[in-house]
Amino acid sequence: MTNFAVIGNGAVGSVIANELKSAGKNVRLFGRQEQQIILSMPQQVKLNVTSLVVNQEKFDYIFVAVKATRIAEIRSALIKMCHPDTIIIVCQNGIGQLLQFNMAQSFQAAVYISGQKNGLQVTHFRDKKLILPEHQLMHQLKEELSDTELVIEVSSNQLTILWYKMLVNLGINTVTALSKNTAQIVEIPELRELVQSLLKEGILIANTHGESFTHEVVDEIMAIYDGYPPQMGTSMYYDTLENRLLEYDFIQGEFYRLARHYQLKTPVLDTCCILLSAYQYKKH
Ligand SMILES: NC(=O)c1ccc[n+]([C@@H]2O[C@H](COP(=O)([O-])OP(=O)(O)OC[C@H]3O[C@@H](n4cnc5c(N)ncnc54)[C@H](OP(=O)(O)O)[C@@H]3O)[C@@H](O)[C@H]2O)c1
Repeated sequence: MTNFAVIGNGAVGSVIANELKSAGKNVRLFGRQEQQIILSMPQQVKLNVTSLVVNQEKFDYIFVAVKATRIAEIRSALIKMCHPDTIIIVCQNGIGQLLQFNMAQSFQAAVYISGQKNGLQVTHFRDKKLILPEHQLMHQLKEELSDTELVIEVSSNQLTILWYKMLVNLGINTVTALSKNTAQIVEIPELRELVQSLLKEGILIANTHGESFTHEVVDEIMAIYDGYPPQMGTSMYYDTLENRLLEYDFIQGEFYRLARHYQLKTPVLDTCCILLSAYQYKKH
């Protein structure tokens, strides 16, 4: 029987593991230590978490759902979990981290699962969708998961979907992290202008790199932000509140690197990146 591992017992990993388990799949959920967590969706489900460091088993599919800042920490355990045909699905925001998963055939999913972890409690808000890149192995995985309630799509447009997510994260994550305030800040006219400038620079970078977003995307993304509940935080907002590392390197940092590479003028992005990298300075 095909076996599955999910690494990361947080908002994304717990939902994936629970859906696999509910469909009768052979699945193990891994975290830092052995424990039991409660997933509210909204009915409460208990999930057993196994310590990643003591694992001796190898897996056919491994979903990686730790934050991108934690990839180095799981690397040696991940290598031990792979056999020659293992497939890794990286369930993370950001772009660029796939290069670090060279221990097996790896693919990045565009993740549409919204939730939040607080201690031993994980709350699922909405969506259970993963969009995978076009590849025969991804069609095979979609087939394997067809009897689960996860929505699996395989798209030839997946890279553009990842870039669109990057843009959505670029605007709202940056300003909520830097202001340490929730989505309500898009009500401030000057802040809206700043976010719009940031999005325009992001589109310039993405398009120079091969995408073809139109400028209407700025209004489209602003409308998404306007639809957020005012008290909603973003992952980077919560990370700053907890004084944790941000997934900066894989989102704003990736835009920043590409802007340097293509010698683009991106003054708003540059200022935001200097402040965000100063926040990260000497943090572990
Ligand atoms: N949450 C969302 O709504 C959402 C939506 C779309 C995309 N994403 C993306 O999905 C990815 C996962 O996010 P998330 O929100 O699920 O994160 P999360 O709630 O913080 O969960 C990450 C989990 O990984 C565990 N972990 C960290 N380091 C580990 C290690 N060395 N060994 C074993 N387990 C470890 C954490 O345990 P500890 O708590 O003990 O550190 C935590 O349980 C991120 O890239 C995020 O940007 C999230």
